[in-house]
Amino acid sequence: MHHIVAVGAIYIDTILSVPHFPKEDTKLRASSLLRRRGGNCGNTFEVLEQLIQATASPLAANPLKLYLSSVLPSSASEATKFIKDSFSIVNLDPTCVYREEASEAASSYIIKNATKSTRTIVSYNELEEMSLDEFAVRVDTMMANTKEDDTVWYHFEGRVPDVTLACVKYLESRRKQRKTFISVELEKPERVGMKEVAQEADLVFYSKLWAEHHGFTSPRQFLEAQFPNTLPSVILCCTWGAEGAVAVRRFPSKDPEWVHVDGYRPDLPELRVIDSTIGAGDTFIAGMLFAFNQHADEWSLERKVNFANQLAGHKVYQEGFDNLALGMRDWLSQGN
Ligand code: FRU
Repeated sequence: MHHIVAVGAIYIDTILSVPHFPKEDTKLRASSLLRRRGGNCGNTFEVLEQLIQATASPLAANPLKLYLSSVLPSSASEATKFIKDSFSIVNLDPTCVYREEASEAASSYIIKNATKSTRTIVSYNELEEMSLDEFAVRVDTMMANTKEDDTVWYHFEGRVPDVTLACVKYLESRRKQRKTFISVELEKPERVGMKEVAQEADLVFYSKLWAEHHGFTSPRQFLEAQFPNTLPSVILCCTWGAEGAVAVRRFPSKDPEWVHVDGYRPDLPELRVIDSTIGAGDTFIAGMLFAFNQHADEWSLERKVNFANQLAGHKVYQEGFDNLALGMRDWLSQGN
């Protein structure tokens, strides 16, 4: 049995669609307002749920269970109910922390500019982040609830670098007891210390923003430059917006394997970017986590990256995350 624990923040997103980006100190009327559960790990799991449900069968070789590890407001709050209701097969209770004194979840206000297809996010989060001790208790609970030959995959959104590093080290100290994989996302360049976390991970996801901030204009050159600071058998990925993604698997004693995929445009009758890119990176991660946990051996790295890239490509051309697995039917039926 495979288990994925996603460690990160859950947001409630309020998305205002506007005809153009507002000028400071002026008034602007939005064309629509949408409130939905967001957050990188939440979005990733929303898509993973669909992929699992689309392929679920009682005889499936690798049943996959999902656990979210986030800080939420009080267990009785409206916000927590809204978040719980937004998932169908994600487990929250063994791995989430509830701040009983708080009633509001982390919130994002997203200005979606129809003219330029940009999304500008202003967020607010007053919930105290998860501490190492709180995380460790949850790891031990996972240990008690799983079997010796189970695999537990921890994916970190990578929020507070020093705490995340301590959490990863704690997992490493437990690696002998369970087969454990660690993936981490390096998205926001201001989280400088995430580089040390990447040094310990089996799979690292870098954003274009991160690579550009470090002075690179090519994802391949950027990934090459990460070699000295990552594990000898790591897999590194860098998404590059409309230009696709690059991934590389390093080997301790042979040349690395490179994969380059172009940005994917689904073959739809009327192509229109309607959701800009809110959660496209989160969707790519969902595709990769699915591929690594369900098709680890029978899908090549190239196939895994292509799958994730197409899934993310579909996402950009629709509002929200609904029915994304439907667009991947061909892949899912071939892969089983
Ligand atoms: C999109 C997203 C939103 C959330 C924000 C947090 O990737 O996860 O759903 O509000 O980023 O940074």
